[in-house]
Amino acid sequence: MLNGKLSDSRVEPSKPRELRIGDRVLPSRFFLAPLAGYTHLAFRTALRELGGLGLATTDLVHATALLSLNPKSLDLIATSDVDRPLSIQIFGSKPDVLAAAAVWLEDRGYESVDINMGCPMAKVNGQGGGAKIACEFDSACELVSRVVNAVAIPVTVKMRLGWNRESLTAPELASAFEQLGVAAITIHGRTRAQGFGGTVDMDGIRLVVEAVQQIPVVGNGDVRSVEDAQAMQNSTGCSAIAIGRGAMLDPWIFRRLELASQNRDWSFEPTADEQVHFLRRHFRLMTEQHEEHSCKLFRKFAGWYGARLGVPEDLEDRLRRFESFDEFEKIVDEIRRRHGERESRIATALVKVPNGPVERW
Ligand SMILES: Cc1cc2nc3c(=O)[nH]c(=O)nc-3n(C[C@H](O)[C@H](O)[C@H](O)COP(=O)(O)O)c2cc1C
Repeated sequence: MLNGKLSDSRVEPSKPRELRIGDRVLPSRFFLAPLAGYTHLAFRTALRELGGLGLATTDLVHATALLSLNPKSLDLIATSDVDRPLSIQIFGSKPDVLAAAAVWLEDRGYESVDINMGCPMAKVNGQGGGAKIACEFDSACELVSRVVNAVAIPVTVKMRLGWNRESLTAPELASAFEQLGVAAITIHGRTRAQGFGGTVDMDGIRLVVEAVQQIPVVGNGDVRSVEDAQAMQNSTGCSAIAIGRGAMLDPWIFRRLELASQNRDWSFEPTADEQVHFLRRHFRLMTEQHEEHSCKLFRKFAGWYGARLGVPEDLEDRLRRFESFDEFEKIVDEIRRRHGERESRIATALVKVPNGPVERW
C-alpha cells in the first residue's frame, strides 16, 4: 500500500494549517511517539534527516533518576542542535518530583515536557506512575497542575483511553488538563487493559478531541501508512498524529505524510543507496553516543528495518548478531551487493511488546 498513490492522497488538516503546542510552531503534524529503547538521539536524528517529522519525544525518563543524575537518564535526554523540535517525556507519581524534573529540564534549555500517563507496565503502575495516574482524577489533576505551574515551557500529557472499557477517563481528564494549562494531549486509542492487543478505538480518540476546546489532540496507535493516518484524522478530527512502531517499519513515513498533506505525490521509493545509507547512518550516529555498545543496541532494529531496507534474510540475521564496527561494515558491503534480493516486504521480527495477562506485566 505504501507504494500506491491514492486518488485523493491528501491528509486534510481538520484544524488551521499552522500547528502550535504552547508557543511552539511545529513544522509538521506528524510526530514520533516514544518507544523506550528505540527513540534515542541517533534514531531521531536519522529520521529527521529524511524529512517530515514535526516533533519527537524521548523515551520515558524516570523523574527521580533524572534528578539524581543517573547516567542512563542523562543518556536518554542527550540531544543536539539538529534534534529539534524535541520533548522530554518524564514519568513518576510524585507531583513535587515531576515538577522538579520539569524545572531541571527547563533550566537546561529543554523546550517542552511530556508527562507519561499511559505506560501499562506493572513496575511503573505499581509505583503509581504511567497509566495508573489516570485512575485518580483529583491526584492526576494535582500532579499536572504542579508541573504546569512550575515551568514556562509547554507541558503535554500522553495517555491511554482509560484503565479498561469500564473506565474511559481520557475525555474528562483531557478537558480538565486543558483548564490547568496543558498545551497538548497525545492519546493512544487503547485502554491499559488492552496492552498492545486489539484494535485502536477511533471513537475513543474522537471523544478526547471533542472534550477539549483549543489545544491540539494528537492521535496515536497502529498508524503504519498514509492511508492509516488519513483514516485516523478523518474519523477522529485529531490535529496531529504520533507514530511509534510505524517509523521503524518505514522511516520515510513522516516524509510521505508531509507530502500527502501538501497534496503531493508521496509514493516515492527510496533508492537502494538511500536505503543502505539510512541503515549505516543510523548506526554511525549511534556509535557517536554509545560507542561499542551500539552493536548490541542496533541489533533489535534489524528485524524491523530488514524488509524495508532490502536486506536479504541471511544478512538481516547477521545484523541481529554482529559484534563489532568492522563486522557491521562487512555486512553493509554485502547488503549493497545483494540489495533487493529479498522479495518479501513483511518485517520479520516486530518490536517485542509485553504479552500474557496485563496484570503480570
Ligand atoms: C517497545 C515500546 C516502547 C514504548 N515506550 C513508550 C514510552 O517510553 N513512553 C510512552 O509514552 N509510550 C511508549 N510506548 C507506546 C507508544 O508510544 C505508542 O503509544 C504505542 O506503541 C502505539 O503507537 P504505535 O502503534 O504507533 O507504535 C511504547 C511502545 C512500545 C511498543
